[in-house]
Amino acid sequence: MANMVKKIYTNRFEIPGRVCIVTGGGGLIGMKHAEAIVEGGGIPVLLDIVQAGMDRVKNGLVEEYGEDITVETFVTDITDRSALEKVRDILMEKYGHIDVLINNAANNPKVEGGSKNLGAIRFHNFPVDIWDADIAVGLTGAMLCAQVFGEVMEKQHSGIVLNISSDYGLISPDQRIYRKEGLPEEEQTVKPVSYSVVKHGLIGLTKYLAAYWAEKGIRVNTLCPASLENGQDPEFQEKISKLIPLGRMSRPDEYVCTILYMISDAATYMTGATVVLDGGRTII
Ligand SMILES: NC(=O)c1ccc[n+]([C@@H]2O[C@H](COP(=O)([O-])OP(=O)(O)OC[C@H]3O[C@@H](n4cnc5c(N)ncnc54)[C@H](O)[C@@H]3O)[C@@H](O)[C@H]2O)c1
Repeated sequence: MANMVKKIYTNRFEIPGRVCIVTGGGGLIGMKHAEAIVEGGGIPVLLDIVQAGMDRVKNGLVEEYGEDITVETFVTDITDRSALEKVRDILMEKYGHIDVLINNAANNPKVEGGSKNLGAIRFHNFPVDIWDADIAVGLTGAMLCAQVFGEVMEKQHSGIVLNISSDYGLISPDQRIYRKEGLPEEEQTVKPVSYSVVKHGLIGLTKYLAAYWAEKGIRVNTLCPASLENGQDPEFQEKISKLIPLGRMSRPDEYVCTILYMISDAATYMTGATVVLDGGRTII
């Protein structure tokens, strides 16, 4: 039998019974947040406007981890404060505490490779209604969630907020990689300006709240994922990989351990920080 080594530090990654809210929990990275929470022993609470995405995540979790896990799902528009208050009240009634908020929801229009051209939306003709909608989900929604769930954390004198930004919260999109062969200049789609503004804004929100809540037992940090491989065409993957020192896009599973670290007591001295998982893209 192998020698059992006493654990002094690694049990700090455990988050038993902690109630962890994930906005946009039915999306691609939503599943990874949920896996991190389940592996730590916590309870994922998924908020999304689409039930089907949350069902996919919940079913995937049950398949991976078994029937005994608890996963909560709420169809909720995070731009609606009263809807968030209802979720807060239900969770408080059932569990009596809310421990983690992962602000993950965003409008994330796919403009790469073989994806469809978004009607050639460039900066000069960027529609104000799309700008408003993107800011509403990515920034106002994050702020409202921090207000509503942060109030509980303040009373508890404990809580963790993790804001999901992007490498595009640190650098500009290199629009050359989104160019589509054969399209005239005025029809080339670009990564929208609102995406950059939302992702930079979240880092500001993190720093503001980290200082604001420093003495209230609430830690607030940013995670910047980047370039997730998700079926993009090979030409796009090749173009983007040339900008990444590790030479490839990331796999979604490469975020899970960092997420768990950041929402657990393994990171008790981390607040206001920006953690970047980008294969080195932002260093060159
Ligand atoms: N996928 C990537 O390559 C990548 C890279 C860097 C950063 N990110 C960031 O990671 C986060 C998750 O990305 P993803 O790829 O999983 O995106 P996704 O589009 O798969 O998921 C986003 C989810 O948010 C939900 N949502 C939209 N509006 C909402 C609202 N008003 N209220 C509640 N939910 C709402 C959507 O229904 C969707 O399920 C985003 O913030 C994104 O900017 C993603």
